Amino acid sequence: MNNRTFAIIKPDAFRNGYLGQILDRIIQADFRILGAKLIRMTRQQAEGFYAVHRGKPFYEELTRFMSSGPCMVLALEKENAVTAWRETIGATNPADAAPGTIRKDFATSLGENAVHGSDSDENAVKEIAFFFTEAELIANQ
Ligand code: CMP
Repeated sequence: MNNRTFAIIKPDAFRNGYLGQILDRIIQADFRILGAKLIRMTRQQAEGFYAVHRGKPFYEELTRFMSSGPCMVLALEKENAVTAWRETIGATNPADAAPGTIRKDFATSLGENAVHGSDSDENAVKEIAFFFTEAELIANQ
């Protein structure tokens, strides 16, 4: 079990003014923020990050959207972090997300679904490393 996961507060949530409220949800859910960066992804970065979806019908739209404006990338820590964060954010499609989840409250569509969460411990490690060096994470300072 890995106690870290990777999160993105996506460009739609940033544009819609939900950055502060989503950070508050993260803190209220007892995640420790090990690292956070406000960035605007290049198209190339978005394509690299979502390479696993290359070839899927939504890949083009996804990478355009993810590079369309500022977003916040975060490394989070909590016991069983991957599962805990996926429970906190809710289903990928906000229409299916449970009440009280971040996507239910802040997402607008499947494509613009406010937040990202790693889907496995293995991917959490890879995704954190995509945006952060170990030295940038608080636990190591
Ligand atoms: P995310 O958890 O960031 O991982 C991949 C993203 O692709 C997903 O959230 C959705 O926002 C987006 N996406 C768009 N269309 C689809 C689809 N049909 N199925 C799954 N994900 C989709």
